[in-house]
Amino acid sequence: MRAYHRDEDGAAQPLEDSTVLIVGAAGFLGQEITRAFARRGSKVRGLIRDPARAEIVRSAGGEPVVGNVLDIESLTKHAQGCAAIVHVAANPSEVPDPRDLAREVRVRGAGNIIEAARANRVRRVIIGSGYWVYADQPGIITEQSRVDPQGESRDNYDAERAGLEANAPPELEVLVGRPGMVYGDGAWFRPVLEGIRKGTYRVIDGGTNHWSFVSLPDTASAFCTIAEKGTAGEVYNIVDGNPRPWAEFAHFVAETVGAPGPGSMSFEEAVATYGRVVATHLRANRATSAGKLRALGWKPAYARFQEGVAPLLANVRR
Ligand SMILES: NC(=O)c1ccc[n+]([C@@H]2O[C@H](COP(=O)([O-])OP(=O)(O)OC[C@H]3O[C@@H](n4cnc5c(N)ncnc54)[C@H](OP(=O)(O)O)[C@@H]3O)[C@@H](O)[C@H]2O)c1
Repeated sequence: MRAYHRDEDGAAQPLEDSTVLIVGAAGFLGQEITRAFARRGSKVRGLIRDPARAEIVRSAGGEPVVGNVLDIESLTKHAQGCAAIVHVAANPSEVPDPRDLAREVRVRGAGNIIEAARANRVRRVIIGSGYWVYADQPGIITEQSRVDPQGESRDNYDAERAGLEANAPPELEVLVGRPGMVYGDGAWFRPVLEGIRKGTYRVIDGGTNHWSFVSLPDTASAFCTIAEKGTAGEVYNIVDGNPRPWAEFAHFVAETVGAPGPGSMSFEEAVATYGRVVATHLRANRATSAGKLRALGWKPAYARFQEGVAPLLANVRR
């Protein structure tokens, strides 16, 4: 097993002796990534902007630290003594129109994290991205497949680039994780579930396009695997390896909660509902492989959403 941290003399340190900084630690992915690293024995610092969110990080097993990914001083301070930094800060809650800020948080944030890592001789930086960077395409998508990042995924892609361009092993090793549709109690899944329960949820054009899924805990364990065993400069898809048509997923969730199956809407209706960029993402075919991640030894606890959704629904907040 490849340890990701080396001490001053270059000797490998076991994972459990390392400190990891999670930036965006109170978010949907950040909370679970905090929990996963803490469970593996890392000391986890969870960077949050709002001290009121400290308990979220604490209950996930991390030590909350207050800062901002756009504030290099706070990052540099909290990166001290860390073996790795994970960037999953995104979607700032400011209104109105946080769009430019959202891009700043992803892209300039990645650059700031790199700077803080260099200043502290942090060995590994893992940039969280997403599989929406890939173009809509037939066949199985690998890390070599064509990308066409649009909207939010443009920011994710540019954050990847900001990180990967700084990759300079062995001093600084930068890696990227691209999760698929992460199902868990939050993010996109919660409104989908609510719509399904109310009988208002609709797929686009029959929902025959393939999505790739992964449970929230499996996503988090993938970030640990990438941090621990990934190769510097590489990108890793994070999906369960069981791509299925979007409608099949929605029907399965509906059946599990005893709701009617989802309806369907035209693409133009979807554009009016979600905007063109998101509607286009939702309708895309992205049957994706995580073969490269699996080759590192990562194995999802839930190999198919049919296994992972039921336990999630048993615990989901209403
Ligand atoms: N959810 C998914 O299914 C999924 C799938 C694939 C990829 N992704 C990608 O993963 C990333 C994270 O997604 P998510 O769903 O976890 O988002 P999220 O739940 O919105 O969490 C993002 C966190 O980042 C924090 N943040 C915002 N601005 C910050 C700043 N300036 N400094 C420090 N922290 C800041 C937010 O805190 P505040 O509340 O204080 O704003 C929030 O806690 C995104 O790039 C997303 O595209 C998500």
